[in-house]
Amino acid sequence: AGAPQVAPSLLACDFGHVADEVRRVEAAGATVLHLDIMDGHFVPNLSIGVPVVRAVRKLTDLVLDVHLMLDNPAEYVQAFREAGADSITVHAEVLPDARPLLDRIRRLGAAAGLSLNPPTPLEALGPAVDEADMILVMSVMPGFGGQSFDPVALEKLAALRDRPGRGYLLEVDGGVNDETAGPCAAAGADLLVAGTAVFGGDDYQERIATLNAHARS
Ligand code: DX5
Ligand code: ZN
Repeated sequence: AGAPQVAPSLLACDFGHVADEVRRVEAAGATVLHLDIMDGHFVPNLSIGVPVVRAVRKLTDLVLDVHLMLDNPAEYVQAFREAGADSITVHAEVLPDARPLLDRIRRLGAAAGLSLNPPTPLEALGPAVDEADMILVMSVMPGFGGQSFDPVALEKLAALRDRPGRGYLLEVDGGVNDETAGPCAAAGADLLVAGTAVFGGDDYQERIATLNAHARS
């Protein structure tokens, strides 16, 4: 899968200057931008929606990695794809069988991701684990940036990394920082989502380079 990549999470940006923030992380060497979509039901918070994804799409060629924290993701995947999402991740907790929705996301032309929260066991992925282009292992309860990393994610990453014949990339999200990036990469993460650890710094290039260095050492 190559060297792990840091995917800055826009949730931690200065939303008064979204265009500048997107251009700054792109100039800082990011290749993927993570976009957190919340509905106030699946998670106890609201964030951005389709219009912001569409606006970001017009600003950048970054890969747009859209994380849907929604009770009813099926209702919205087409709109996010049309807005410019390159990958769309949905949560196993609301999908007893995620296979039809993953298949639909792929037919819309996006990569299809499947995510699970820290308390959710790997078994909850069911047979959909073999249909996903990406598995997003949450290392915090979703809803808010700036929480601390739950090491249960490391065990899940390692178990998913070691599944014979796996066809997915591994992504980890929540509390990824200079201390936790290395262990995540060692456990098999290909994509490291980092909100606070990137946008909380002054120099995004230094932040991304430092996280990448930890992930590659
Ligand atoms: C949590 C979101 C994350 C969040 C991570 O609900 O899914 O993507 O932005 O933020 P940090 O990196 O600050 O933990
Ligand atoms: Zn996220």
